[in-house]
Amino acid sequence: MTGPKPWLDSHDPETTGQLVEGKELRAGLARFMLNYQFAIEEIMTKINILKTEFEHLHDYSPIEHVSSRLKSPDSILDKARRREIPLTLAALSEHITDIAGVRIVCSFNADAYWIAQMISSQQDITVVTTKDYIANPKANGYKSLHLIVKVPIFLSESIQDMAVELQIRTVAMDFWASLEHKIYYKYDHAIPAAILAELQEAAEVASRLDSKMERIHDDVHGKLIRSTRS
Ligand code: GTP
Ligand code: MG
Repeated sequence: MTGPKPWLDSHDPETTGQLVEGKELRAGLARFMLNYQFAIEEIMTKINILKTEFEHLHDYSPIEHVSSRLKSPDSILDKARRREIPLTLAALSEHITDIAGVRIVCSFNADAYWIAQMISSQQDITVVTTKDYIANPKANGYKSLHLIVKVPIFLSESIQDMAVELQIRTVAMDFWASLEHKIYYKYDHAIPAAILAELQEAAEVASRLDSKMERIHDDVHGKLIRSTRS
């Protein structure tokens, strides 16, 4: 008799080809999610090392705060149904790249690029996609740097590359995005035009504040990050 595997192997066709339905496979999904939790922990460690090292060298940190979230099984299944992704662990891990999410809030836009560069250049990290909404803001004014990266997690019987979504943005833009997100849900994804216009204007104000603060910082301290790291 073969007992249950200690860890679900997302590359094992025996387990991953099956539909995530019924009690047993729901339990499989819970184990699969644990791997994403491990991936979050790997990324959090990397970011905390960069933050602590930077503070040690420069007495301040471009990283203001970091948070993470694991998508709930219900949200994963909802998204899969919405996007017509087969409900198998293999398809979910291939197509839903925001199961593990890490948000890094930094002081200035230049810091966002620095953080992305520091993470992306690490040997065990593979960058899958980059969306630069700082250089190319969304129509509503949203600015943020989004990366999907893969990070290996070392399990007792296998090594797995797990996708993690990184969102890197300034404090001002994070403030804007959290309000915009609440409004978006309050109006069930259809924000009235007048509020949309106000939000757009607020995003511009946040962006101007970011530029001004960065200029003042650079005038006082010099272009610290770029000059010490290049
Ligand atoms: P999903 O909607 O998550 O499937 O993302 P996507 O495939 O369109 O990718 P994208 O990189 O554009 O967005 C990823 C995540 O960034 C979203 O799930 C949100 O958490 C955040 N995000 C993207 N656009 C906005 C925005 O306009 N406002 C806010 N508040 N958050 C946003
Ligand atoms: Mg998402």
